[in-house]
Amino acid sequence: MNIDGKQSAVALNLETKEKVDLIRSQHGITPALAVVLVGQDPASQVYVRNKVMQAESVGMVSIERKMSADTTTEQLLAVVNELNNDPSINGILVQLPLPKQIEESLIIEAIAAEKDVDGFHEINSGRLLNGDKRALVPCTPQGCVILAKKALGTDLRGMHAVVVGRSNIVGKPLGMLLLRENCSVTIVHSHTRNIEEICKQADILFVAVGRANMVKASWVKPGATVIDVGINRIDIGEGRSRLVGDVDFEDVAPIAAHITPVPGGVGPMTIACLLKNTIVAACNQNNLNIPFE
Ligand code: GUN
Repeated sequence: MNIDGKQSAVALNLETKEKVDLIRSQHGITPALAVVLVGQDPASQVYVRNKVMQAESVGMVSIERKMSADTTTEQLLAVVNELNNDPSINGILVQLPLPKQIEESLIIEAIAAEKDVDGFHEINSGRLLNGDKRALVPCTPQGCVILAKKALGTDLRGMHAVVVGRSNIVGKPLGMLLLRENCSVTIVHSHTRNIEEICKQADILFVAVGRANMVKASWVKPGATVIDVGINRIDIGEGRSRLVGDVDFEDVAPIAAHITPVPGGVGPMTIACLLKNTIVAACNQNNLNIPFE
């Protein structure tokens, strides 16, 4: 059965919109997200436009700061500091990747941890590692866990979750989130021996490596749940292309109990979780107790 990420994103955005309305009507605050885009990378431009539009569609204030491709680290730091010091801004996101002259880690660590709605700051990753509920959690891993729970029910306790990929943005934080859900977690990567056999032991298999159609049916236990984070554009001839995941959907879908399609799986959840994080940040900054379900 396909796991419908679009439907889950719509449901989460509805909940976010209700919270935006509540915070505005009861506390006179309109949650605000600032998105910073440096340069003209076409994919980043699309992502940023979607983030800004969706923030507005749930009733938030959304501010877009565009900077030229030759921006220096110092110039970007100055903008981050300005947004850190602006009390009307609750969330800050600097779209990655940044042009190569900019020191990415300096920028991430300069964002005020309480406004870091990407959850990339070391204070937030440290809190996630420690199981501290105050962590702002990276958006894509959050979306993955929501979809796994949608398929399997809210209790993932004791399940063997295998995560393919160990990036700071997805694999590592996803491993920590799954531990918080009381899963037994294995993280595998490009140097892992017997990767196929380990994946085949997974009750839930998460794949975030950025390699089109890498995971085949022989990697998957029949009846497993498969969450595909990959978004790869492949050439299909005659100048045309199409989006595929890291999992060979046609091959794996017949044996998986649940599987996310690409597009329409994890992708739509990422922005929905970003907007949720913006509400969490706004509530934390204003000592409001408005929890998500
Ligand atoms: N580029 C690709 N994914 C992301 C993300 O989740 N956050 C940011 N800031 N940049 C990205």
